[in-house]
Amino acid sequence: MAYGKNVKEILYGGDYNPEQWPRKTWEEDMRLMKKAHINIVTLNTFSWAALQPSEDRYCFDTLDSIMELVRKNGLKVCMATSTGAHPAWMAKRHPDILRTDRSGMKRKFGGRHNSCPNSPSYRKYAPKLAGMLAKRYKNYENIIAWHVSNEFGGECYCENCEQAFRRWLKKRFRTLEEMNRAFYTSFWGHTFYDWDEVVLPNFQSEHFLADGEERTMFQGITLEYRRFMSESMLECFRLEYQEIKKEMPDIPVTTNLMGFYKPLDYQKWAQDMDFVSWDSYPAPKDSPAETALQHDLMRGIKKQQSFVLMEQTPSVTNWQPYNRLKRPGEMRLLSYQAMAHGADAIQFFQIRRTIGACEKFHGAVIDHAGRDDTRVFRELEQLGSELGRLGDVFLEGRTPAKTAIFFDWDNWWALEYSAGPSIRMKYLDAIKDYYMAAFEVNIPVDIIGMADEFDPYKIVVAPLLYMTKPGVEEKIRKFVEGGGIFITTYFSGIVDEHDLVVQGGYPGRLRDILGIWVEENDALPKGEENSFVYKGNLYPAEILCDLMHLEGAQALSVYEKDFYQGMPAITKNQTGRGWAYYVGTRSNHEFYQKFMADIFTEAGIVGTMIVPRGVETAVRVKNDKEIFFLLNHNRESRQIVLDCDYKDLLNGNEYRAGDRIEIEGKGIFILSSQTGKCK
Ligand code: GLA
Ligand code: ZN
Repeated sequence: MAYGKNVKEILYGGDYNPEQWPRKTWEEDMRLMKKAHINIVTLNTFSWAALQPSEDRYCFDTLDSIMELVRKNGLKVCMATSTGAHPAWMAKRHPDILRTDRSGMKRKFGGRHNSCPNSPSYRKYAPKLAGMLAKRYKNYENIIAWHVSNEFGGECYCENCEQAFRRWLKKRFRTLEEMNRAFYTSFWGHTFYDWDEVVLPNFQSEHFLADGEERTMFQGITLEYRRFMSESMLECFRLEYQEIKKEMPDIPVTTNLMGFYKPLDYQKWAQDMDFVSWDSYPAPKDSPAETALQHDLMRGIKKQQSFVLMEQTPSVTNWQPYNRLKRPGEMRLLSYQAMAHGADAIQFFQIRRTIGACEKFHGAVIDHAGRDDTRVFRELEQLGSELGRLGDVFLEGRTPAKTAIFFDWDNWWALEYSAGPSIRMKYLDAIKDYYMAAFEVNIPVDIIGMADEFDPYKIVVAPLLYMTKPGVEEKIRKFVEGGGIFITTYFSGIVDEHDLVVQGGYPGRLRDILGIWVEENDALPKGEENSFVYKGNLYPAEILCDLMHLEGAQALSVYEKDFYQGMPAITKNQTGRGWAYYVGTRSNHEFYQKFMADIFTEAGIVGTMIVPRGVETAVRVKNDKEIFFLLNHNRESRQIVLDCDYKDLLNGNEYRAGDRIEIEGKGIFILSSQTGKCK
């Protein structure tokens, strides 16, 4: 629902930090924002030290003036609570607010996102500030949302966290016996006889570095710590949320997320957020598919509802090793891509460039020159004017998908903390293998999790489903029995929710659904591969080769060499009215393209439109009206032959089925389907 039903336009704007510069600049900021068609600002993201100069003193004067200024200028406000960085005096006076890092080092004041989530001081002062802000500004009708803290993240290993962890374990396991079982502490004589014997898993205890990656000797403990830390931070969010709601019960509350951010289980977070917002900063090497995937994830964590693009850079970041400029047209293209995947608002970090500290070379709407005749400003102005013309035509529109990819944070943690069989097995790589194959043929995909039903889909892919938590198997079984197509891969069904191996043969609880038994897993080092033939073509088998036996399934491909030559590599099994596929190894992009093309044909799923390579198409549906996004990620223009009658929502042109349109390099079209003919 993004900013909510009362918003009838695509909101456009970003983080505005006028407390950093003199008041005489403020009026000029207002003029420039108006020129760029900006209608929303996120305020007060990092002002805690200014708002609370000491223990008992609060000072809202500057913020009062800013609030008046933006109201007078007709701007809507996404109001942040400033708790993403605590004041220096607070760190000195209440050192419990400081974090302890993974090596056990207690941090001093510095940086941001620096508060211990289990610090009594933080849990007292942060919600208090949020409540005071809400109380003070509740009569401002231009506040349309609250933004708690900023990019929650990181971790803490302090004594308060340790004690809170023990309480968490007690609540979850109830008895020491049960905890010992779940942690498998009979291994290496780790049996705990008292809750107080448990310490946090970090480099002082169970963790070590292997090939530069953090690993653990007790996956069960580490997994539980991850769940606990994500929940600890979520609790901080909730505490502020509750204080805001006491004053402004009808205004939605969010916090800005970060896509595939491993430490926080966003599928859980989204349940406590009124709407999802996130910050998209693709690296220059990221493909359009990778950015699209993150948007789909962010839409998926909250039942496929639309979201807010809270931050992106208009031009350049400052924190990558090489901060490449977004090329002409790229900012616009990425903005429309976000909307194609469910964004209802486009916002930037930030409105005016800072002149000191580490973000002074980060792009902004108004740069250091302070002019409105820059390339970036002109592009922003054009986009703002276009969004104004689009109105609310697709706001809250759904993105209909018949294909889903299952994603789960616990699985991500467990898989990548496990020692063996291969360090090269990466969850996100496996997700991308399948996502890319759909993206390239413009087949929409929903990213779903444990809280979602499988029934709306014809195809559910669960790559590298190493962990089968309670409930997963049941969902898969019901889905396949009811006629769905389920696909999973090598190294799936191995462990339960505590990372304990399910005995009786891999893939554990999924064995009979898949009709196979995996006896061994062969991890191939870099440079080594096996191969298999699929539909007449030879493809590589890399990273992991599952050695399996058929128990009802049929083999679609077998390994071509080594001692397991002739054993199945890919299988297909009928269960009830549906089919379950097992892809027992990792292959290349060409294979996933071909394999998924066959699956899509079997399911009767076709792409949104037929377009040249590198052109993305997506659709949003609102009140039965379809809005099509055509996005040319190529540098050069492309021609598209339209399949139906369409209206161009930006210039009003009408096209007939069979018309040829030219889409410029990095260009876009937004079309609505007409009730006319389709070819
Ligand atoms: C994040 C933060 C912002 C800013 C930008 C810079 O997304 O939320 O405060 O630091 O990064 O890219
Ligand atoms: Zn802590």
